[in-house]
Amino acid sequence: MEIKMIQFQPHGDERGMLIALEEKKNIPFEVKRVYFMYGTKPEIHRGKHAHKSLKQVLFCPCGACTISLDDGKEVKEVRLDKSTEGLLVEACMWREMYDFTSDAVLMVLASDYYDEDDYIRDYEEFLQYINI
Ligand code: TYD
Repeated sequence: MEIKMIQFQPHGDERGMLIALEEKKNIPFEVKRVYFMYGTKPEIHRGKHAHKSLKQVLFCPCGACTISLDDGKEVKEVRLDKSTEGLLVEACMWREMYDFTSDAVLMVLASDYYDEDDYIRDYEEFLQYINI
């Protein structure tokens, strides 16, 4: 499984830093939804689902967390601890998010609106869906 990181170009000057995210430019899809998680307890694992067709870019503009991605064949972990780097998560990837720092904000840019029908929340069902 290839982990796809997107490097964001920081625009810094004597006043501080700025990062711009633009659909079909540094974000490789049309962005229909943005949401973020914060105040996540240190022992908590979030996610534990896959999406049938949704694509997402995840990054921590503040703090850090770990994402595990499982394509049904292997599992890889990525530590998101830089505001300048996003993780592209394609469809049909089982994901979990954990080890949030107390200041972590996990931003998610998503290719579609919230739709519970796009979720697979059972791991065995996920394996069946991807024919493993
Ligand atoms: P949930 O799917 O449990 O978060 P995760 O699996 O990523 O840890 O979402 C938490 C709640 O927020 C749940 O009631 C659904 C709601 N929600 C929305 O209303 N809109 C959204 O875009 C998302 C991602 C969640």
